[in-house]
Parts: sequence; C-alpha cells; structure tokens
Amino acid sequence: MIKVSASLLFCFMLGLLLHCEAHENKHNKIRFYELKRGNMHLNFTNYGATILSVRIPDKHGKIDDVVLGYDTINSYKNDTSYFGALIGRVANRIGGAKFILDGKTYKLPANDHGNTLHGGTRGFSDVLWNVKSHKKHSHVTFTYHSFDGEQGFPGKLDVSVTYMFIGKNKLGVRMIAKPVDKATPVNLAQHTYWNLRGHNSGDILSHTVQIFASQITPVDSNLIPTGRLQSIKGTPYDFLEPKEVGSRIHKLPGLYDINYVVDKSRKTHFNKVAIVKDPVSGRKMELWSNQVGVQYYTSGMLGDTKGKDGAVYHKYAGIALETQGFPDSVNHPNFPSQIVKPGEIYQHYMIYRFTAS
Ligand SMILES: *[C@@H]1O[C@H](CO)[C@@H](O)[C@H](O)[C@H]1NC(C)=O
Ligand SMILES: *[C@@H]1O[C@H](CO)[C@@H](O)[C@H](O)[C@H]1NC(C)=O
Repeated sequence: MIKVSASLLFCFMLGLLLHCEAHENKHNKIRFYELKRGNMHLNFTNYGATILSVRIPDKHGKIDDVVLGYDTINSYKNDTSYFGALIGRVANRIGGAKFILDGKTYKLPANDHGNTLHGGTRGFSDVLWNVKSHKKHSHVTFTYHSFDGEQGFPGKLDVSVTYMFIGKNKLGVRMIAKPVDKATPVNLAQHTYWNLRGHNSGDILSHTVQIFASQITPVDSNLIPTGRLQSIKGTPYDFLEPKEVGSRIHKLPGLYDINYVVDKSRKTHFNKVAIVKDPVSGRKMELWSNQVGVQYYTSGMLGDTKGKDGAVYHKYAGIALETQGFPDSVNHPNFPSQIVKPGEIYQHYMIYRFTAS
C-alpha cells in the first residue's frame, strides 16, 4: 500500500497523473468483489471486469449459480469463450481487421480468420481494471484507461463499467466510455453465458427465448455482416413469440450466432430486448437495453470445457445475449455509427430482471 501511495504522490508531483494511473495497473492485484442483496448473490473480478457467478433462487427457493465460468483466474486468462467478460474496445467482429477513419487506415490484430474479434488479442476482457468504488449491498465500479494505439485503436479512452442492484431483483450494467484525444469506434458488450437451470445442468435447448427483433444483420461464411438487414419472418431466427431454443436450431448450421436489430416500438430510453425462461427451475430473465443490436449466441462453438465446481460444459451449455451496436459497423456506413469523438460520451445500459415461478 505504502509503495502505491508513494508512487501516486510522485506522479502528482510530475503532473502525470493519468499516465501513472494507467501504469499503476501493473501493481494492482487480481481481486474478487461480492454483491449481495436479498437472495441474489454475485461475484466479480477486476480481471476483465468479469461476472464470475450469479446465484439466484428457483421457483422452490433453491439457489443455483446460473452463469458459466471457471474456478481459477488462470483459466480466465486462457479462455477463448469470453465467459462473463466485459468486451471492448470494439465487441464482435471487424472485417479484414481494419477500418478507415478520417482518411487514415487503422490495422488491428487479426485474431479470428483474418478478422478482429472482441477487441483483438488482448481486449478489455484480458486487462486488469481498477476498482473505483465497491459497496457490497449496492454496486461495484471498474475503470480502465485504454492507451492510444492499444490493439490498434486510435486515441486514449476512459472506460467505466458499473454493476448495480436496482430494487429487489434487478441487476443494472452501466458502461461509459469517453475518448480523450481522438475519435474512435466504441462498442462495449457484456458476454455472460446464462443457463437458468444452473451452470452445471446440461444444455439450454429446452429454455424458451423471446427476442423483440424483426430483423437480423445476415453474415458471410466468416461471420462478417453483408451489410443488409433481413426479416426473420418465416425463418428459424424468428423469436418474436417465445420459442424453445432447440426447436429449429438443426435447420441452421448448428448454432445461433447472429446480431438482431432490436425493435423500437416505443421511443423510450430502454427497450425490452429479450426474455429467457427455463421451464424446469421456473427461473426467468428479462433484459432491457438502450442498444440497437443484440448478439444471440447459443454456445454452439463451445468445446468440452472444464468449468466451475467440476462442471464440464459442452456445446449449447449457455445462452449469451450481448446487447451492443451492429457488428463491423466501422466498415458499413449504412449501420448506426459507433464513432465517438472527444467531448462525446458513449453510454450503454442494460437491466436484467430475475424472477421464478
Ligand atoms: C469469488 O470467486 C473467487 C474465485 O473463484 C473465490 O475465491 C471467492 O471465494 C468467490 N467469492 C464468493 C463470495 O463467491
Ligand atoms: C487452455 O485452453 C485450451 C483451449 O483453448 C485448452 O486446450 C488447454 O487445456 C487450456 N489450458 C489450461 C492450462 O487450462
């Protein structure tokens, strides 16, 4: 502690506070942060601003952990599934691992078939965040100062994510990003995999899902959007009414991994995005957000993975519903822009509501 304070003081004296704060990350430790209210009990780590566990009751009051994860931080470091992580600077794929902004071409790490996935080889899900504030019965706030050129992206970016209880049974996520000196694309996403029956209870194919979206952004064979919007009517992608996840999954190449265009029937700040239900435990999760898109991923690419408490996760072990902007927006002028300029603020809100009956 003394060492950190001394180095902070030194930084103040040099007038390089921001620089030193970023540098100070190296001295920070990986720690765990609990949130508890009523019978909701969550665990987080500052490594990747990650959700490690979400323990909630079923219809009989039995508590289970309903998110996929690992027992050790080393497994999170080695992870390629992004369990529970906060994704950035740009979540999802960027085609050709490059984009042009203000006439300049930015080249990014190509970590997914020649494209950039989830912020590059060491995105925000693989950095150590600072903890700005933590109150066990209310919230935890993680912050990160991304440097100019980090994973190829332009300019410094100050990022914060707050996980907070709202009322008795809601979890809010507030993601804020402020470019310091240059315009940059920003697209943050929360990448938790849900299995409402319990993380160690097998597949999610009999969960029901409803997604309030009439269109998707179809993709090519490398999962890069073609740029078109396509109606889901009459296709296996239609979840406007509640449907079992597995009811039509075999009509697809074996998985759902697609961005939905969230319907905005009312111009409220929050739109209802999705509802997930498990008929066995009776648990239900509703999701609201202010984002234009939601990536629906049913973990079809998950290999047999050693998880928490001796669990082994197979294909279809969890559902990810990642609210965000459209994938590869930086290369599709017809998609809503993800460019944020200095003086502007990127704001992304999510609300999860958990009930059981
Ligand atoms: C949070 O997770 C860490 C790492 O798995 C574990 O050591 C710690 O006991 C957990 N805390 C709670 C309250 O679950
Ligand atoms: C790291 O991940 C790979 C798969 O991505 C796996 O085969 C390997 O066993 C993992 N190593 C450890 C130490 O967990």
